[in-house]
Amino acid sequence: MAATSSAGDPVRVPEPLLPAARACPASGSAAAVGPAHRGRLVTGIESWLVTRYEEVAAALSDPRLVMSAPRIQQELVDRGALPERFGSLVQRRTRTLLSTDPPEHSQLRRLVNPSFSGRTVDLLRERARQVCGDLLAAMRERSRQGEVVDLVDEFAFPLSVTMICQLLGAPAEDRERFREWSQAIVFDHGDAESVAAYQRAMAAMDEYFGELIAAKRAAPAEDLVSQLVAADDERGGEDPAELRSMLSLLMIAGHETTANLIASGVLELLRNPEQLAALRADPGLLNPTVEECLRHAGPVAFSSMRFTTEEIRFGEVLVPRGEVVSLGLWAADHDPAHFPDPDAFDVHRRGDPHLAFGRGAHFCVGANLARMQAQVALGTLLDSFGEIKLAVPEEELSWRPANTRGPRHLPLRLTE
Ligand code: HEM
Repeated sequence: MAATSSAGDPVRVPEPLLPAARACPASGSAAAVGPAHRGRLVTGIESWLVTRYEEVAAALSDPRLVMSAPRIQQELVDRGALPERFGSLVQRRTRTLLSTDPPEHSQLRRLVNPSFSGRTVDLLRERARQVCGDLLAAMRERSRQGEVVDLVDEFAFPLSVTMICQLLGAPAEDRERFREWSQAIVFDHGDAESVAAYQRAMAAMDEYFGELIAAKRAAPAEDLVSQLVAADDERGGEDPAELRSMLSLLMIAGHETTANLIASGVLELLRNPEQLAALRADPGLLNPTVEECLRHAGPVAFSSMRFTTEEIRFGEVLVPRGEVVSLGLWAADHDPAHFPDPDAFDVHRRGDPHLAFGRGAHFCVGANLARMQAQVALGTLLDSFGEIKLAVPEEELSWRPANTRGPRHLPLRLTE
């Protein structure tokens, strides 16, 4: 894909930023090519893609890059840089964490932060162990019959959706519906049918959370929905749509990413048997392994869209006011200037922190929860099975074609 930078030089959008290349985490070249590139996201949106660690890290906390900018968004729709269907998003204006900036954003964030603190999440660790135990017992049973099991459908997704249901206070029986909705919501929206599916899923989830909010208002319990309802009532509950949007965001963000991290992490360990052996030999490497999985196979390739409120320089590239900017978290986490031999998966790696959870005001709310689940998932899986093998040649794996990266399925043969 060729395009022109504001300086007039031709800029090639590096292969790793293109959707087809998502399967391959090796993207050191993306950062090496330059700090920012003009390209088109899979949604059809024209955007600047920032790819070097230094610029991405700084941009994540740069107040000149904003999430909420209705005037700029409208200008972009008018000049055709945001596809028509995004016009309705500009009009809708329901406030969410990912469509507001401080100080408005900080008010929303204060509502949810306590439920995701290290302490609260630690209290859920035992529950995560139980859930993993039950899922692994079923997988063990099937493996003893000589069957192949799918780590994505039988472990990673059920774990992460059960945990977020538990935290929110949504019945675990509803998890299949969440899975269905989130597939429609996070997948590419490049054609009319997938846009329609996205809208149907958003509406269904909105209705679902409307009912759950009513139920918790009538009979509050010890869960996040009840806490948010109480906090909302205290504030006067002036915008019921806002609360429903918050819950939809937490549900989607809360399980898609974590499930993909677990599946991609297991695949990385299978691709690198010496790293797996090192982890088995030293359980103290469990947490560093999860961090390396986040860096090397991070499930979120790009940040949410931001808008430039003034001209901003990324290294030698000058991006004008009123442009869309996406921050390449995955590319930054493979920047050779910050991560020596960046495409190697190395559970002993130390040094610069990765950017897989973002940084600054929008730093991932669920980082503690995601880390805890990945640690418990990898730990219990390795404890349960002495031998884990891919049941198909790696080339046969297919990848989720969305901004959340991960294998669609991970068929495994497991031996105790
Ligand atoms: C491996 C798992 C996860 C990864 C890699 C991840 C990644 C991210 C990233 C990169 C951002 C910042 C986006 C930006 O600045 O544009 C973010 C924000 C967010 N994440 Fe996560 N996330 C994960 C798990 C979770 C979980 C478990 C939850 C919640 C239950 C969650 C909820 C959110 C929310 C609500 C935001 C918006 C925060 C804000 O704007 O203030 N995430 N996440």
